Amino acid sequence: MTMMGADNANSTNSGSGATRRAAIAIAIFLVLAGLLFLFGPDDFYPWAKAIHVIAVISWMAGMLYLPRLLVYHADAEKGSVQSETFKVMERRLLRGIINPAMVITWAFGLWLAWKGFGFQGGWLHAKIAAVVGLSAVHGYFAGAVRKFAEDRNEKPARHWRIVNEIPTLLMVVIVVLVIVKPF
Ligand code: HEM
Repeated sequence: MTMMGADNANSTNSGSGATRRAAIAIAIFLVLAGLLFLFGPDDFYPWAKAIHVIAVISWMAGMLYLPRLLVYHADAEKGSVQSETFKVMERRLLRGIINPAMVITWAFGLWLAWKGFGFQGGWLHAKIAAVVGLSAVHGYFAGAVRKFAEDRNEKPARHWRIVNEIPTLLMVVIVVLVIVKPF
């Protein structure tokens, strides 16, 4: 409990901490994307696709599980042991898995789009638009984790249950677009 308390004190997100982490994520993305665009050889394509799909699976696992945690967290009494445990679980899931997986998905996805398709194709443009939507939902979840960490969530479990379905819908659209390439 002491440990969790200390952990939780750390988690009280200051705005500057969040800005610093966002800046680090953007820097990693730029370095990764820059290296790929400069040095990515042609025969690297299937490997890049494999890494892309592994990152996608990790990102989606987190994007489907996090709102489920928020559903339970919304029902837990503020200040209770459960509530404090959910805070730790949410923060670790977001920072340890969801954020890095998104950065890797984007970097490798953009490289594949450039190398394989020269950024051409209706399906690709629609896919990128849907991924921008998914990234916006990601941002919304990150904000929610911060609110929950500060005991400021006022939204009921029902809200998080509904929000939970959005990443699923976007994932179906994205996978159909990239595999069927309907237009
Ligand atoms: C903006 C970010 C993204 C871009 C630019 C992008 C682009 C691409 C490109 C160009 C390919 C190669 C397609 C081919 O070789 O036929 C690919 C593969 C794939 N992408 Fe993405 N992607 C992004 C994000 C995502 C996300 C968020 C998902 C899932 C939720 C996803 C799922 C997949 C899958 C499953 C494949 C493998 C398709 C296959 O082998 O036929 N991508 N992506």
